[in-house]
Amino acid sequence: MVLQQFARSGTSSIIATDDGSMGYHGNVVEVLREFLGQDEQWAGAEVFACGPGGMLKAVAGFAREKGNSCQVCMEAYMACGIGLCQSCAVAMKTGAVNEGESKKYKLVCVNGPVFEADKVDWNS
Ligand code: FES
Repeated sequence: MVLQQFARSGTSSIIATDDGSMGYHGNVVEVLREFLGQDEQWAGAEVFACGPGGMLKAVAGFAREKGNSCQVCMEAYMACGIGLCQSCAVAMKTGAVNEGESKKYKLVCVNGPVFEADKVDWNS
């Protein structure tokens, strides 16, 4: 279904599965290395990623290594969805929050869900 939607939009897509049951046998970073990391036309491309945190961290690391900017769509458990419960807090690197903000955290529900990957504290 999703593949058909990509095809209708004219967007090329590469499917990767860890077990090789469909498409490329490997994870998304391996695909990025093979298809984007070796082609100069993608040198300045911006990377957009959504998915589980571990994958986002790996994609962000790849983008940083290659000098590509990257935006990630974070997933988080949300109880209220309006910024009250703090259940969706994501740690940000010091200095990554807006000037005047003292928090080291952003809320996925009201500040995201999309963040610049290089501002997320992937080690917390
Ligand atoms: S879901 Fe409650 S603060 Fe984000």
